Amino acid sequence: MRTFAIVNRKGGVGKTTTAVELAFILATSCKQRVLFIDADSQGNATSMMLASGQDPSGAGLAAALEYPIEYYPDIIWRTDYEGLDIIPAGEDLADYELSRLLLGEKPNFDRMRRLMEAIKEDNVYDSVVIDCPPYYSISCLSTIAVSDSIIIPAGIDAYSTTGMAGLVRQIDNIRQACPQIRVAGVLVTQWRRSSIGEDAVQTLREESPVPIFRTVIRRTDKVVESSWSREPVGALSPFSAASRDYRTWVAELLGREGVANNA
Ligand SMILES: Nc1ncnc2c1ncn2[C@@H]1O[C@H](COP(=O)(O)OP(=O)(O)O)[C@@H](O)[C@H]1O
Ligand SMILES: [Mg+2]
Repeated sequence: MRTFAIVNRKGGVGKTTTAVELAFILATSCKQRVLFIDADSQGNATSMMLASGQDPSGAGLAAALEYPIEYYPDIIWRTDYEGLDIIPAGEDLADYELSRLLLGEKPNFDRMRRLMEAIKEDNVYDSVVIDCPPYYSISCLSTIAVSDSIIIPAGIDAYSTTGMAGLVRQIDNIRQACPQIRVAGVLVTQWRRSSIGEDAVQTLREESPVPIFRTVIRRTDKVVESSWSREPVGALSPFSAASRDYRTWVAELLGREGVANNA
């Protein structure tokens, strides 16, 4: 079982889109059994993926962090996609984070570690994909702590590029407590052909302290449309530029990670 966390402290860089597409492609094209963990209390990925008619409030990631989970299927929910399940997030995660902050508690990685160990031992999933919020919260740090590979989506604006060194330094600090974590690479998203676009990617490739994926994800209106129709863009429009780019990227990622791709 391999765990991918999608991380960047910047908002709007394509974390949620990348996490949802990665999970969707692993489950549908690669026929893997995939668990998605929504670690962002905004719950954007949850509202995109949770199968309709389910109400998971009180039985998602917040419950997993707050209580020792004896029977973890209680917090795992179905999506509309075969082989893809979700531990959802919502307002209860925001409430949990706020109460811990007010109590001045430090993140406790053990609960998340035990949960992941139980899931791993039962051999029910091939991959876990975690959508992180744009800040270091207890849920963000606890889920990064159980991941193997970190993927950093980034835009081509100057702030994305200049902020990279700081982000990588922070991930290095987290690695002191969790040495298994590796940065798989930076994924350029929302890319559009232009001289600025070409120059920014070139600068990133030259200056980034971590690998930049060869594949870039093009900006495609279908992605915005998919957020309205609440489905992965790969389901809404499988042959749109972004859907094709995400499939190419997943093949690149799995190739780099040495994982068989059954697509
Ligand atoms: N390749 C893309 N093309 C067009 N719009 C995109 C693309 N990727 C993301 N977006 C849009 O950009 C916004 C931010 O993306 P999101 O994945 O939510 O970022 P984050 O999770 O980092 O905040 C969303 O409205 C999303 O629909
Ligand atoms: Mg997001």
